[in-house]
Amino acid sequence: MRLLRTRVVIVGAGPAGLVLAHLLRLEGIDSIVLELRDREYVERRVRAGLLEQSTADLLRTTGVGARLDREGQVHEGFELRFGGERHRISTAELCGRSVCVYGQQEVVKDLIRARLEAEAPLHFGVDDIVLDGLTGDAPTVSCTLDGVRTTIRADFVAGCDGFHGVARRSVPRSELSVFEKTYPFAWLGILAAAPPAGEELIYGVHDHGFALHSMRSSQISRLYLQVDPDERLEAWPDDRVWAELNDRLCQGRGKLNEGPVLERSITAMRGFVAEPMQYGRLFLAGDAAHIVPPTAAKGLNLAVADARILAEALASWYTTGNRESLDHYSRTSLRGVWQAQEFSAWMTWLLHRYPGDGPFESRLRRARLRQLVDSEAFATSFAEHYAGVSREFARTAAGDGGR
Ligand code: APR
Ligand code: PHB
Repeated sequence: MRLLRTRVVIVGAGPAGLVLAHLLRLEGIDSIVLELRDREYVERRVRAGLLEQSTADLLRTTGVGARLDREGQVHEGFELRFGGERHRISTAELCGRSVCVYGQQEVVKDLIRARLEAEAPLHFGVDDIVLDGLTGDAPTVSCTLDGVRTTIRADFVAGCDGFHGVARRSVPRSELSVFEKTYPFAWLGILAAAPPAGEELIYGVHDHGFALHSMRSSQISRLYLQVDPDERLEAWPDDRVWAELNDRLCQGRGKLNEGPVLERSITAMRGFVAEPMQYGRLFLAGDAAHIVPPTAAKGLNLAVADARILAEALASWYTTGNRESLDHYSRTSLRGVWQAQEFSAWMTWLLHRYPGDGPFESRLRRARLRQLVDSEAFATSFAEHYAGVSREFARTAAGDGGR
């Protein structure tokens, strides 16, 4: 049995845990990151890849944006297709912001590299994590680290271990309120060795359901199809996937570039929030506390926002001994989380076909889509949410720093 000491134990090396560790290191605050999986697995896991400008800027200004600048693609708008019509929504013109397409696993790779180069503690393959003493002054995290049972004593624990992690489950049920919504469909996602059909993302609304054409590079496309929630991958051979993508995205005009499918998966669509995001000296961040449906690609951006808010609050505690920001962490984060939850739910409603929808519902949806392309006020509001500006407003509202 080995005993270690640090200021913050970070459970989970996804975007939330790695950004938090990175920001704390820049503030001179020691932390130890514990990750269940091995490095290869974490770096290969294909997830969404749309970075709000503020997320990309945070990575740049803290020294982990070099590859993002080289390989990420800045998008100043996107295309929306419905009823055979094609419309461009320019976020740059509407709200002065762009987004950046750069895979989540690339962000993770850059952060892992920076942490290891700085010789800061990051352990992979850590088993049997148990959190203890969370309501006292000296919480501990016990785990099997390199085969040795180890206890780490810390000032704080950050639960950044995703939806299925151990951190949220360490909070007594009576201390958390859980809010949940299951959407009646799923997304089938493919990564394909095919040049994207255009320069920008295409969101397609079709009678068969939603489809999205995104990308990872000039040679790699990332595409999604709305499917039934209990759909099996075997029911979707490549030919069927491409045929459906072509129908829903091209809508009778042109064709997508097809190529070998490199990866495929089906993702359930759910909304989930656990409140508060704090229990004693445990702080939850990212998917450990909340899940949004992938439609507006907010998951990664929310994880990074949590990490930033928590890092600032911890820095304030260590420099001034003032607990106020830490005490406000949950409330500050949750404001942005619910903004993103609401926008994601709304965008999901706008673009998907729901079981049981009849002609009435599809005309309602069409009326909303028309508003989006015809009304500048409406489009501006959409663009602010899509590019993440509205969450920045919420955080700084009334000059209260989000309190
Ligand atoms: N102990 C240690 N690590 C764990 C444990 C555990 N018991 N359980 C899970 N983990 C690790 C996972 O292997 C993963 O690497 O915690 C990490 C959590 O990372 P993510 O799931 O990526 O969550 P987060 O960092 O909050 O980022 C949210 O990820 O799921 C996407 O769409 C989501 O983009 C969003 C982002
Ligand atoms: C992605 O590239 O994975 C992506 C992009 C935009 C979205 C959702 C996912 O709205």
